[in-house]
Order: sequence, then C-alpha cells, then structure tokens
Amino acid sequence: MVPGVERSRIGDQLWVFVLLLSARIGLAQDDFLAKDFNDHECGQRLAQREGLVKGGYPTRPGDWPWHVALYQRGVNSAGFEYACGGSIVHRYLVLTAAHCVTYAASRRKIPTEDLLLKLGRFNLSNEMEEHAEEFNVIESIVHTGFRPTTFENDIAILRVEVPMIFNDFIQPACLWKRDDGYVLPNVQDQSGTVVGWGLSEGNVHGSVLNEARMPVVDSLTCLASDRTFFGRLLNSKAFCAGFKNGTGVCNGDSGGGMYFQFQNRWYLKGVVSFSNTIDSTGICNLKEFIGFIDASQYIDWLYENTPNSGIDDPILGHPNIRLINQGNCGRNKQVYEYAEERKPVFNQYPWMVAIRHPFVDSTYVPCNGVLLNRNYILTTNCVDLQDEISVTLGDYDTGSTKDCAKVNGEEHCSSSSQTVSVGQLFRKDNLVLARLTIPAVIGRRDHIEAICLPVTPEQRNRLYNKYIMTGWKESGTDAQILQRAVLETIDQNTCRAEFQAAEYASEASKQLDDRTICARNLADPTRSPRCNDYQPGSAIQAIEKKSNRYLLYGLQTDIGYCSKPEQYIAISKYLQWILDNIRG
Ligand SMILES: *[C@@H]1O[C@H](CO)[C@@H](O)[C@H](O)[C@H]1NC(C)=O
Ligand SMILES: *[C@@H]1O[C@H](CO)[C@@H](O)[C@H](O)[C@H]1NC(C)=O
Repeated sequence: MVPGVERSRIGDQLWVFVLLLSARIGLAQDDFLAKDFNDHECGQRLAQREGLVKGGYPTRPGDWPWHVALYQRGVNSAGFEYACGGSIVHRYLVLTAAHCVTYAASRRKIPTEDLLLKLGRFNLSNEMEEHAEEFNVIESIVHTGFRPTTFENDIAILRVEVPMIFNDFIQPACLWKRDDGYVLPNVQDQSGTVVGWGLSEGNVHGSVLNEARMPVVDSLTCLASDRTFFGRLLNSKAFCAGFKNGTGVCNGDSGGGMYFQFQNRWYLKGVVSFSNTIDSTGICNLKEFIGFIDASQYIDWLYENTPNSGIDDPILGHPNIRLINQGNCGRNKQVYEYAEERKPVFNQYPWMVAIRHPFVDSTYVPCNGVLLNRNYILTTNCVDLQDEISVTLGDYDTGSTKDCAKVNGEEHCSSSSQTVSVGQLFRKDNLVLARLTIPAVIGRRDHIEAICLPVTPEQRNRLYNKYIMTGWKESGTDAQILQRAVLETIDQNTCRAEFQAAEYASEASKQLDDRTICARNLADPTRSPRCNDYQPGSAIQAIEKKSNRYLLYGLQTDIGYCSKPEQYIAISKYLQWILDNIRG
C-alpha cells in the first residue's frame, strides 16, 4: 500500500483517493473571527526567492506557505508517516479532507495524538529545514455529512492548540470570499494550481513540494468521462478538474488545496478528494479527471465550527496572546522520549537563560530566567534592577565558549550562545519581565527556543505532583553547567507549617497564597537530600501530554537550602499581567 494514502474500494478495480478543498469566508460572527480570517493577511507569497531553481523543481521554498503536510501514526506504519496535504486558513485551523483523518472506508476518527502537522516545509526528506515547524492536532472536526463510500462532504478541520505565528514560510490561504465587493469569478474552464508531495512522476511521493496547474471542467463533461465512477461521487458540492493526459494529482495529495490567484492573493477553492485508478495496485490513473470538494461551499460550516478560541476568556481572548506560545515553543528533540531523569540536559531546555551584571564573573550565574519569545524573558527579583543586565541565551556550560556534550553516546556541539542586554523592565511582586534590546535567534538551531506558558483554563488550573526544575546552581563543581532536578510539590498547608516551624514565620505568612507553589527537591543524588541550591529564577515546568510541550509553571524566588521548602512564583497567576505588558 502506498504510504499514507487511504483508499476505498468503490467498485471493481476502482480505488479512490481524496483531496481537500478550500473554504470561503462567511459573515464575520465576531471580531475574533473577522480578525483571524482576514482578507488582508492571507494568500500572499512573502518569501524572497533564494537562488536559482535547480533541476526544474516546480516550486521553491516559500511558494506555498499555506500548504502543510499531515502525518499519521499507526495507520500504515508504527511511526509518523506522511499521509496528506492541508491548507492553513486561520492561526488555529487547517483544512484537509475528512478521509485523511479517519480510518479507511469509515467515519471513525484517527486519534488526534496520531496526527502531526508539518508547516513551513519544502523538502520532506530534509529534517533540518530552517523554517520547519511542527504542530500537534488537538481536535479534528470531520463534517457530519461525510460519507466514506461516496466522499460526500469529504472535508475536515484540524485545530492546533497554540496559535501558528505567521511568517514568510507559514501563512494562511485566503478563503473563497471577499468582503470588499470584489466578486471572485466562476472558475469553470479556468486553471487552478494543486500542490502536493505526491505529485512526482512514477507514483513515488516526492521529497520536494510540486505543483500542477489544471483546468476545472464542468460536471457534465466529467460525468460523461466515466459515468460509473463519477456518477456515484459527483454532487453539487464537488467538482472535477484535470487534463486526462498524465498531469494531475496522485497518491498522497489528498487534503491539499486547489488555489487560484486574484489580485496577487491566492484563494482556496478545492480540496483534493477522489480520483479513479486504473487497477487494484492503487497506482493512480492520471488519464482521468480528479474530484475536488468545493471548499467555497463550506465557509459557513467552517465558521460555525471555528472554535471560539476562548474569546470570553481573559487570557485566550487577550489581544497579545499571539505574542507568546509561538511556533515550536516548549519543544525539544527528546520531548517524546523516556522519563525526564534519563534525558540529556544539553540542548534539552533551550529556553533557559543566564542573567548577570556584565563584566562580573562570566562563569557564575546569579540569576536564572526563561525565554518567553524573541523579545522577552521572565525572571525573578534576583538582579539589581538599577544596574546594567545582560542575558545569555542558549548556554549550557558557562565556562566554555563552545558547548559540547555526549548525548546517547554521541558527541554533540551547539552553536555559540547569544548574549544581549536588557531594555525595558517590568516588575510585579517577585516577578520580572524584561525586554531584550536585540531579538533572540529562535528556531534556527536546537539551543535557543522559547518556553510555552499555560494559557488555556485547563492548563492554568492543573496542579502537578512533580515538576521539572532547571537552572544553574550557586556553588559546587557543577555550578557552571545547567542542571535539572525533579521536584515534588508540597501542599500549601504543609508548606506553611514548615515555614512557621522554621525561623521564617513572618515571611511565610506574608507570601503563601495561591500565587506561590511550594516544592522540594527530594531526589537529587548529587546533593544531600532536601538540599537545593539552584539559583533564583530556576524554572519549574511540566510536559503537557496533549501537545508534547514544556509549559512554565513557576520561577524560584529564593534559595531554600536545607531549612525550608522552595517557593516558586505561580506563573499562571500572572498571565494577565505578562500579556498586558508585552509588545510585538
Ligand atoms: C532533500 O533533502 C535531502 C536530505 O537532506 C537531500 O538529499 C535532497 O537532495 C534534497 N532535495 C532537494 C531537491 O533539495
Ligand atoms: C497535459 O496537457 C497540458 C495542457 O495542454 C500540458 O501543459 C501538460 O504538459 C500535459 N501533460 C502531459 C504529461 O503531457
């Protein structure tokens, strides 16, 4: 079976391949929708053309920034495998074909954890692509009228948890609707463009993205070409396109869009849905027309099913929410694998930053912090805010300029760290938000990345028994190397009692409320039990299983040593303040 392609047997010797269609914009239901399905921020190629096209590949990186690759796990193989295309239409949504997210010949949905979206991709064989981003799917909405046997309403919406941040390589396509009175033309006999990784000749799915232009044909012509096949599948919400001469859409192109360009913008008209194949080998027959779902007829449906991404929630509805939790925040190479204690520390927590007064002792880290996005870090009240402050991003061993470490028995080295100074500072209680004077270089390599914050109500309210702590320590032989410990949470009452028994009663009663998380490092084998000398600003984080990302839950305010539990500022109680103070 060809990887990732679902087929249904429709009749003797007929196999069906599905494609996805674009949707048009309906009436804006509220500001959130109006803003996010924006005619003025969609469908444009922004990437600079890089160099010459070699070998006649029909597309270049950045040509189709709304086209994404959908991977499935456990359907045709145990691991994630390329399956279909899809189109970004909104910062939370991708449109694809329903048959790309359901099991073959059924309406049964593939679990969302077995779906993965790859954005900003051009060459799927190259895992190091500069603009690549991956998104987990947290919800798949299959059209309730989807009929797997006839491919009726073969359309589905995929929702991602953190918003996609648009750039030159990741953009939404425009929906087939304009609000300015410009009427999008009838496309019959017009040529649209279909893109996909399945288009290469010889029915091998290609590594680089290909495109094919093909005309839309009227339904009568299509029906006449093969009454048995199209008679069952064509309906008023589907259309045919193609040349019947070998140029067309093949295995693995399902779910991708057919796009038309008007006034310099690309509009999503169709979703690749079904095609007729010549024999039971599953090799597609490009001597036949291809069936598309007419996405322009599903815009109201798309609107109705657009998750109201928390517009009533003060955090999710905050206008600055788009400035945090961007792209690959909270991700690293090993996020999927083993218990935390068994993971390497090197390049594993690329959001950790070392904060110092410049020109003091460059190996000593008095203050830890985390990178929030390209422009901001979060830390605690451990730096003298009157003084000049410098932030080092992507460091591991503060004693060496080039960091290397053994990971799974192999020597790995990271690029040099980035040191920048801090501009504006904001402070609330013990929390400090600082704007960097030069943006962090995120996303190019493994060692500098932002962390995600717990933004949904579920993430904000979740309490963990254990947290992963990372930071540089105050002293000891390992103080210049980033460390990790797993901490156990201590409930508020126990924590308060311990503080009162110790000599810090007044401090404890002053600070202990739900803005503080108490935790203790019980299992640090390199220190005597209960001792902890991680510097202030050390981060406590948890991996959210649904999205496989690290979320920041707290920042250490003080050093507890052995006498009392450590206290951490509960970040979820300060989200509003953070969002109110950051700028783009
Ligand atoms: C795609 O990536 C692979 C692996 O890096 C490479 O061997 C191949 O040449 C690339 N193809 C193109 C067309 O760049
Ligand atoms: C099919 O026809 C179109 C339009 O005439 C042409 O551009 C394309 O190259 C043809 N494909 C093949 C494989 O002959």
